[in-house]
Amino acid sequence: MKYAIGVDIGTSGTKTVLFDEKGTVIASATVEYPMYQPKNGYAEQDPADWYNAAVSTMKTVMEKSGVDKNDVCGIGLSGQMHGLVMLDEKNNVIRKSIIWCDQRTAKEVDEMNEKLGREKLIQITANPALTGWTAAKILWVKNNEPENYAKCRHILLPKDYIRFMLTGVYATEVSDASGMQLLDVPNRCWSKEVCDTLGIDMSMLAKVYESCEITGYITKEIADITGLKEGTPVVGGAGDNAAAAVGTGVVEDGKAFTTIGTSGVVFAHTSKVSIDPKGRVHTCCAAVPGCWHIMGVTQGAGLSLKWFRDNFCSAEKDTAKLMGVDEYYLMDKEAETVPIGADRLLYLPYLMGERTPHLDPDARGMFFGLSAMHTKKHMLRAVMEGVAYSLRDCVEICREMDINVSDMMACGGGGSSPLWRQMLADLYACPVKTASSKEGPALGVAILAFVGAGVYKSVPEACKAIVGVDKVQQPISENVPVYEKYFRLYDEIYPAVKENCAKLAEL
Ligand code: XUL
Repeated sequence: MKYAIGVDIGTSGTKTVLFDEKGTVIASATVEYPMYQPKNGYAEQDPADWYNAAVSTMKTVMEKSGVDKNDVCGIGLSGQMHGLVMLDEKNNVIRKSIIWCDQRTAKEVDEMNEKLGREKLIQITANPALTGWTAAKILWVKNNEPENYAKCRHILLPKDYIRFMLTGVYATEVSDASGMQLLDVPNRCWSKEVCDTLGIDMSMLAKVYESCEITGYITKEIADITGLKEGTPVVGGAGDNAAAAVGTGVVEDGKAFTTIGTSGVVFAHTSKVSIDPKGRVHTCCAAVPGCWHIMGVTQGAGLSLKWFRDNFCSAEKDTAKLMGVDEYYLMDKEAETVPIGADRLLYLPYLMGERTPHLDPDARGMFFGLSAMHTKKHMLRAVMEGVAYSLRDCVEICREMDINVSDMMACGGGGSSPLWRQMLADLYACPVKTASSKEGPALGVAILAFVGAGVYKSVPEACKAIVGVDKVQQPISENVPVYEKYFRLYDEIYPAVKENCAKLAEL
């Protein structure tokens, strides 16, 4: 039996899972770390936290599993996309990483549009200039911290920094590189034109691989720390969403998934490059060679519920501890006692600005319709429903682009909530399924590692052998028209306050 390890460098923590070649979880370990918000709209993390978490979880899974290191045929890396890691000539990290949900780069986005033109950017990078994507962050450092920029020799994404620490090579792969806005997405290679026009030296960028190709090998130093064999191959891996697609079997046309992690994503596979001319959803290379995907992203999905939990649910946290159950399980039970529409309370989940469909870094969250009759439980349900409305916005755009999303899986922490899945099924008016494995991104990159090691011939073949469907949740027919009315109203609120959000940002 062969084994592979998937390491998922997420925003709330790093999760490492060791799987056998049938996809069975043999051992798993998670380490959490903080996100720093030095200013409203800023979000940073310390790459040293990711490294420590990655190495310690790899060591734990090797110890816990008791698997012979010679039988581990490969490692796959998945990670939060878009984060900027800058290394100096001695490979030291120059500053904390500015991560995906940071919104400080509005000026740099204007600069990109001026220098390249919106149409050209969309034509080459398949996406409009985006505040959260890496190119704008690079320009922000160049404009605001020239001393840091002058020291920079290597630019890496979060998981690719971990790859560098594990193997000593500077490499990336097409799915995550698509989110840097420097890649020619239709042709799957760096764009000289974009880099030259923005004044970004291409020699600082890592070599681009396909996601299932071997990019490097575990060094002796890392082997000694983790218990892995020196020389274990590390494949390209994928950005967390492309990785989750492989882990849920979304590797052919017609298949889609919704993930509720810190962000929320509606992701659809496509065998041809499909671009939304209005730029409301992203188009990126898929982890399946020769394929692409589109994805709509809501910035504050699980983040909204975590924010609510951390600020208002200490009683639930204490009770959950006493009962030995998960806090979110108790919160679900409370939200279930409130009727659909939270007795006329709506929540807009724009705590970190919004991408799909508004593309507005200044958008902010709000409760609409608060009444003296509302309780914490109503607000809790409204938060979950608000995230689901926002995901429905993403589905609307996919449908507008003629991309079929009716074969819908759910994953991520929030995808394990039956209540949240029901909201999605009712709002999408289609069944929502879960995969037999709950390990989305970690399983996805372990599958890529099995393919890279030759255990399976192709990504779709490996998915057929490994990924199955567990539960299917059907829409409840009487809920569908009720939610439809709430969704229509939800969609009217943000345009009505857009100007006020901009004024608030100026205060
Ligand atoms: C996708 C995105 C997020 C991050 C964090 O564009 O920004 O999904 O990958 O998970």
